[in-house]
Amino acid sequence: MYLLELGGEDDAFAACEARSAATGLERIAPGLAVANAVVPDRVRGLAYTHRASDLLGRTDADLESARTLLEAAPIDREGPVAVRATDVHGSTGISTERAERELGQVLVDRGFSVDLEDPDHLLRATFSEGRLTDDADDGVLESEADDAESERGEDVSVCALGWLAAESVRDFGERAPTDKPFFQPGSMDPLLARAIANVAGARPGATVLDPMCGTGGVLVEAGLVGADVIGTDAQRKMAEGARENLRAFLEVDEPSPIGVERGGWSVGRGDATRLPLADDAVDGVVFDAPYGRQSKIDTHRLEDLVAGALSEARRVAPRAVVVADRSWASEAREAGWELEAAFERRVHRSLTRHVLVLSEER
Ligand SMILES: C[S@@+](CC[C@H](N)C(=O)[O-])C[C@H]1O[C@@H](n2cnc3c(N)ncnc32)[C@H](O)[C@@H]1O
Repeated sequence: MYLLELGGEDDAFAACEARSAATGLERIAPGLAVANAVVPDRVRGLAYTHRASDLLGRTDADLESARTLLEAAPIDREGPVAVRATDVHGSTGISTERAERELGQVLVDRGFSVDLEDPDHLLRATFSEGRLTDDADDGVLESEADDAESERGEDVSVCALGWLAAESVRDFGERAPTDKPFFQPGSMDPLLARAIANVAGARPGATVLDPMCGTGGVLVEAGLVGADVIGTDAQRKMAEGARENLRAFLEVDEPSPIGVERGGWSVGRGDATRLPLADDAVDGVVFDAPYGRQSKIDTHRLEDLVAGALSEARRVAPRAVVVADRSWASEAREAGWELEAAFERRVHRSLTRHVLVLSEER
């Protein structure tokens, strides 16, 4: 079993992304999940999971219980150790310094030496309290479920201990849209771009398409986790700019910190409603639909553009993730997609971002 430490504000969305790197994932407390197995390279490429650890055990969120758990747990490791504790969202009020000291002492009593600078094994001690919504409700039609949300779920108090196995690479700041060679307003931030690329199935050996690629933000992130990427955009300026960005971030000599080879790429000018691709040509489609008030769309009404793009996406791929300023769920169903999950995130007063996860009908 593995312990996953989730990041970001939306655990349901973080769990959805983490499922691209783990099997049998279940949320156990705010900010925490467990999984039967994880793929370390993919954990390194997650946006909204910080760490995966080999689970030693779990108990209630108090230090006494954590000490008892650690005293009794089987440990088949050798070499120096260190303990790092986290109080998720400050929800338990536990002193992390005290937790690190006392749990470290338990390990010393069990015969381990402590090396805070360079331990062979790092024990993660995570404490979290709060309301856990039902895993089955994760992200599914959240807007319709909002009223019932506050009544559902259970209050939990969890301490989970685990040996660090993989950490995600936090280099997103190096790819802020404004720092890229080609920037346009409306570019997606690299964290969300990475997450939706992962949800769409980006990984070595997979091909991901963004038919409205803009500056190529999603394609860069999908390529960095090893997927081959294809982009189209109706505007020549965008297609050229996306090429510039992909060249800058995917044609790099140093090895990737994630540990996978960066994917290949191709970008051309094209219409998302008439893709120059064969049926079933790609593994996943991701697009960030134009926002009615911001984008200029010469040839289509926005409704026709999104409906056309959804049905072309369905023709070329078994899976898609769509980001937009409204839901587009009924258009997705009409295009033959099944709605696997839907997430909403308020960006500011006049913009709520909708993320739809679509799969082929079973
Ligand atoms: C919201 S932006 C995408 C932003 C992109 N995710 C990024 O990070 O830069 C939407 C893009 O759709 C493109 N677009 C509009 N109509 C299109 C069409 N019919 N076919 C392909 N692209 C289109 C626009 O040129 C614009 O670049």
